[in-house]
Amino acid sequence: MMTSVDARGEPVSGASDTAITLYEKALAQFQCYQGDPVATIESAIADSPAFVMAHCLRAYLFALATEVEAMTEARSSFEAAEVLNTSARERRHLAAIAEFLNGNWERAITALEDILIDSPRDALALQVVHLSDFYTGDARSLRDHVARVLPEWSPDDPGYHALLGMYAFGLEECGDYGRAEEVGRRAIELNPQDAWAQHAVAHVMEMQGRQADGIDWMRGRERYWADDSFFAIHNWWHLALYHLDLDQIDEVLALYDGPIRKDRSQVMLDLLDASALLWRLHLRGADVGGRWKELADCWEPLAEDGFYAFNDAHAMMAFMADGRDKAAEAILTAQSKAMAGNASNAMMTNQIGHPVCNALRAFGRDDYATCVDLLRPLRSRLNRFGGSHAQRDIFDLTLLEAAKRDGQLALVRELANERVELKPSSPLNQRYREDAARRLAEISGAAVV
Ligand SMILES: [Fe+2]
Repeated sequence: MMTSVDARGEPVSGASDTAITLYEKALAQFQCYQGDPVATIESAIADSPAFVMAHCLRAYLFALATEVEAMTEARSSFEAAEVLNTSARERRHLAAIAEFLNGNWERAITALEDILIDSPRDALALQVVHLSDFYTGDARSLRDHVARVLPEWSPDDPGYHALLGMYAFGLEECGDYGRAEEVGRRAIELNPQDAWAQHAVAHVMEMQGRQADGIDWMRGRERYWADDSFFAIHNWWHLALYHLDLDQIDEVLALYDGPIRKDRSQVMLDLLDASALLWRLHLRGADVGGRWKELADCWEPLAEDGFYAFNDAHAMMAFMADGRDKAAEAILTAQSKAMAGNASNAMMTNQIGHPVCNALRAFGRDDYATCVDLLRPLRSRLNRFGGSHAQRDIFDLTLLEAAKRDGQLALVRELANERVELKPSSPLNQRYREDAARRLAEISGAAVV
């Protein structure tokens, strides 16, 4: 069996020097969310068809897309690697991929942890476990899976910036904003193209309500993250959130019609960001014209997937906002089937995704009391169906607006108080609080009279 080593000294089977160079390029593209890592890794496989880790990298790229159809591609890479000569580490990667194919995220994460315990310099295992922690909403692991291996790396190692970028995001999701920003900026100094580190610092500014800093951070560095990046739409979405916080709706719509939606992307993660932005506008009562129709058309073929509860919720937003009751019903039916299975998504859907989708449907039907009843008990557990704090804030906003529309003013005041304490610079938060306080005072004044 032909054995060489990768750029971090890990033995790899079945690869020529050329194929290893291509593998490293694909891994770097994956770490920076730049270029086309699938095309690059396919070139490596064409050069060295017995290169096990190249098949694994390709499998992971598809397995992490949260799309049903992508799993077929992940499976074909798994099957191509399964018949090859493999080392113990490579067999563990195949075991992790098998768990992804079974839809068992927790067991895949454990398998990846096992790899990292023995091979802390396995950059691919770390990249994949980090994204898995994101999809399962595990803030502590987003931080600590990286911390476990950091001392085994040197700043001179290729890809060290990516560890810092991941660590920055983990620190941010754990609320350690000062360190998150410091570490994220260090990653960017090492590699300005690191779109994940860019994004980690963007999250810090979002959570701290530093809208002007955030706009400067994104606009000032656009040349590094906005071109040739498969993560660019999400980063544009973050820029739009700062403008939304400042009530700059025209800017938000310009970003939506421009970089966020101009290519009419059908990629799941892009649809998700589009829904997440339009729904925030919808909650404010903004007229978004025909934008929902275009988006709902793209979501419609995916309504019956029942594949990942976090996606279902964002499809539901589009269907309710565009008045598509049948498609909304199809999501709930697909979820019922998903809940009967034993994939990780069964738990996510049962505990979080299904009640959230019912809450969104209730909101869409102007049944705000039901929406409040469904969302309120879930608030502190929403992380279980994945995403970031910034993404999941949409459900807090939905609860707040539903409470307002249902006339539950004391609840609105309390929810708004929470938000103002965390982000006093948000005019929206202040408005909710002041509006509720004013109306409550009017009612009590009227009662006294
Ligand atoms: Fe984000």
